[in-house]
Amino acid sequence: MAVSYPLLRRIHDLAKSRTEARPHDAESAGVLAFEPSEPLDRRVLLDSEAPNPPLDYERAVLSRRSKRNFFPARLDRKKAVLLLESASSLYKGQPEDSERAFPFLTLGVLFQNVEGFDDGFYLFSGEGGSLRLIREESFHEPLSRVCLDQPWISRAAVNFLFMANLAGLEKALGPRGYRLLLMDAGRMAQRVYLAATGLSLGCCGVGALYDEEARTLLDLNPDSALFYAVSAGPVKGSGF
Ligand SMILES: Cc1cc2nc3c(=O)[nH]c(=O)nc-3n(C[C@H](O)[C@H](O)[C@H](O)COP(=O)(O)O)c2cc1C
Repeated sequence: MAVSYPLLRRIHDLAKSRTEARPHDAESAGVLAFEPSEPLDRRVLLDSEAPNPPLDYERAVLSRRSKRNFFPARLDRKKAVLLLESASSLYKGQPEDSERAFPFLTLGVLFQNVEGFDDGFYLFSGEGGSLRLIREESFHEPLSRVCLDQPWISRAAVNFLFMANLAGLEKALGPRGYRLLLMDAGRMAQRVYLAATGLSLGCCGVGALYDEEARTLLDLNPDSALFYAVSAGPVKGSGF
């Protein structure tokens, strides 16, 4: 029989109500999570041809598991681009839908040892079709510390960063906004899991975070937060 926890039930009830909002409120509310102190405005187009994944969709769904045994092999550019496309595919062709928190989400990515990309911190822009280099340095080690000292995160080739201005989100969508945001982030993350599985790469979500330390590391404004990360890349025993 399911156990009922009154406090959790109360939190759930309080977060049910939603304010009517239009997606473009994200822009007018000034919700960009990231305000880099010194942006390096270098853009990279995601124009690589996709490789043929060794696993099809059905087998990827059935065999998808969280894998943390990353090791520092160079990640092929085409595979990296496929991971990026799978993460950012929600950007494309989204209907105007007030039930979505997606426009409030800022997606970043950290690279390390990825063919054709400088190591560094990038933000997605242009409907997910390009990346903007924010800082050219490796953030993997400090990210792993910010994520409750989980060292395997520092060995992943790619770390996706899910960020949002939570104050702006709540103002626009009401208490329900946070729940909608997490659902959209979850959908994006599971697409990365499937793409990684199909490419014989590893992938693992990371929800354990020291919020304040993450904010400082990524130079986020006080209203914004890193609320989820996803590590992906070559893992031991996968032929890399
Ligand atoms: C939102 C979310 C956050 C997670 N956070 C962590 C984490 O911080 N550390 C970790 O080792 N695994 C983390 N995981 C992976 C889970 O432990 C894993 O998904 C779960 O044990 C089920 O295993 P499976 O993904 O292989 O089906 C997270 C997964 C999700 C979806």
